[in-house]
Amino acid sequence: TIKLWKFKDINDHQLYLYENLLKRNWTADLTIMETFRQALAKYRSELGDNAQIILHKGNTKRKQKINFVFHNRVAAIPDTIFEQLPKTNPFPQETRYRSCAVVGNSGIMLNSSCGKDVDKHDYVFRCNLAPLLPFKVDAGMKSNLTTMNPSMVLGRYKALKKTHSIKQYNEDISQYDGMLWNPCFAYEGNGQPTLKAFLSFKGKKPKMVCGNPQHFKSVLNFWQEKELTNKISTGFYLATTAIQLCDEVQLYGFWPFSAHYGDTRSDVPYHYFDDLSAAKADSEHSMNEEFDLLVQLHTLGILRVNAGSCS
Ligand code: CDP
Repeated sequence: TIKLWKFKDINDHQLYLYENLLKRNWTADLTIMETFRQALAKYRSELGDNAQIILHKGNTKRKQKINFVFHNRVAAIPDTIFEQLPKTNPFPQETRYRSCAVVGNSGIMLNSSCGKDVDKHDYVFRCNLAPLLPFKVDAGMKSNLTTMNPSMVLGRYKALKKTHSIKQYNEDISQYDGMLWNPCFAYEGNGQPTLKAFLSFKGKKPKMVCGNPQHFKSVLNFWQEKELTNKISTGFYLATTAIQLCDEVQLYGFWPFSAHYGDTRSDVPYHYFDDLSAAKADSEHSMNEEFDLLVQLHTLGILRVNAGSCS
């Protein structure tokens, strides 16, 4: 059997169907995409300006109390963070980016030669500080918005307690352009390391930003009403957000399976840049349900899931 990383196994037959379905010619369906966008927007409508993707000085007041996404807790935004928020909303309001790539972290990126294709997009989203230069050929270099998660701060950077971890962190981060998206108000317990990560960066780029918990919640609510029960993964949140922000959305590196057929059957590591095993990866997301939804969105022409080689 082929493992679906995290959760249940799928059989060869299902995997084969997915691959062949994704290989067929794909065209965007702008009408259905707009319908989907409007459905998403309904989940933000009560929030007005507060629904924007990140916190900035225009939608947040000094010392404002902020609700956490995953905990029933409210905390005032620290002054040190508030000072560094962007002055205004950096995302277009009336217009959209023409074409966007969302790069997930699946090992399917290895030997894909998709780097050039990824970089051709006008706006590129990346997840959880995936390294750039060593994977330039397969995953590209462009980075407009990159997310960071608290487990990264705690694991790779040892909670940013030691000078050398902070130095390493500052060096690593400076490879990204655009924004570095922190889930500042997502998890109560891990909130502190995330805030520390935000404040420990002293470089000029990327711009540190805090994800807006209300925006995240609106996406979460949207999907929960469509039967997605678990916490959505970062990649799935970005894919949904990209539909809001972009005319066309293409996904790369979304493949939560341990094998791929292509020309010959090959094993697929969980990540393309480290040897994290699925067992160690947290199991809080429903990757099977998410992937199934992404394939449905692909079939409808709302986004494109690229799961093969680009050469
Ligand atoms: O921390 P999280 O599990 O959300 O993410 P990650 O392992 O750093 O990977 C980033 C995103 O890529 C995930 O949130 C998934 O949406 C996607 N992914 C995937 O589709 N297949 C994989 N084998 C690994 C990640």
